[in-house]
Amino acid sequence: MAPPFSSIFAFSLLFVGVLVQAHDQVGQSAVFTYEGSHGPEKWGSLSPSYATCSNGKFQSPVDISKDNSVFGKKLQTLVRKYNIANATLTNNGVNIGVHFWKNSGGVAIIDGKNYTLKQLHWHSPAEHRLNGKQYAAELHLVHQADDGTYSVIAILLQIGDPEPLLAKIHDKLVELANEKCGSNEEAHIALGDLDTKHLRKKTRKYFRYIGSLTTPPCTENVIWNVLGKVRTISQQQVDALKAPLNPVYKNNARPVQPLYGRKIEIYDELSKH
Ligand SMILES: *[C@@H]1O[C@H](CO)[C@@H](O)[C@H](O)[C@H]1NC(C)=O
Ligand SMILES: *[C@@H]1O[C@H](CO)[C@@H](O)[C@H](O)[C@H]1NC(C)=O
Repeated sequence: MAPPFSSIFAFSLLFVGVLVQAHDQVGQSAVFTYEGSHGPEKWGSLSPSYATCSNGKFQSPVDISKDNSVFGKKLQTLVRKYNIANATLTNNGVNIGVHFWKNSGGVAIIDGKNYTLKQLHWHSPAEHRLNGKQYAAELHLVHQADDGTYSVIAILLQIGDPEPLLAKIHDKLVELANEKCGSNEEAHIALGDLDTKHLRKKTRKYFRYIGSLTTPPCTENVIWNVLGKVRTISQQQVDALKAPLNPVYKNNARPVQPLYGRKIEIYDELSKH
């Protein structure tokens, strides 16, 4: 017996739906946003290469609280040897960042291993939280070792005095806001030699855990170091970071992710023996 017309119709609709979805999934870099149907809760289903965003058990960011952190007895001081380096200001459509020419940015030495500073970028509001509190912005210093592993140093920023690095590049940031940035291209502005000295100020306290990149494909096995000292950024600087971005990226913070039993380790020089 032939199926009634209505169910053939329903089947065709379903089939067309599947085709459209399959077509979407061909692209390695499906479009993701921070709200609506392509928002963070949907990232894992936007493309097979984004599956870790929803299946992963080591995702970032997280809320760092007294209940989920322990003293890391084996943790060592974070050593940073950053250089004055030729840098480029970029808008990749999702966030504003600074990229360093080749390996000229310098290194962070984490657990005795060298990680080269590749780029830094800002999120606003902040992604990691401290005892549930969300700050105005967060700076991510992204490092990569020769074996490809990532380590990120995160600096939380609350509204207050201007942040020195952003103050230095403010005019370029305004220029960037006036550049067109298409959906598949980055806008670049040369910064010349940039001094990142103030970013390597000695760190007395940090939080360490194993997590992921906070944007798709949400790659795991990232060694996170969230600095305990919250620094400042002016409201004008937060606005300048948002200005070049499309509305769906102006609030580019991924919500906090479950720890699934992970413990966050605390390094604190004052409580060492
Ligand atoms: C810095 O990099 C840009 C390209 O990113 C290049 O055109 C320029 O010559 C470089 N400047 C120096 C001093 O190396
Ligand atoms: C790690 O970086 C430091 C500081 O730049 C350097 O002296 C050392 O040679 C590097 N070690 C390796 C194994 O590359």
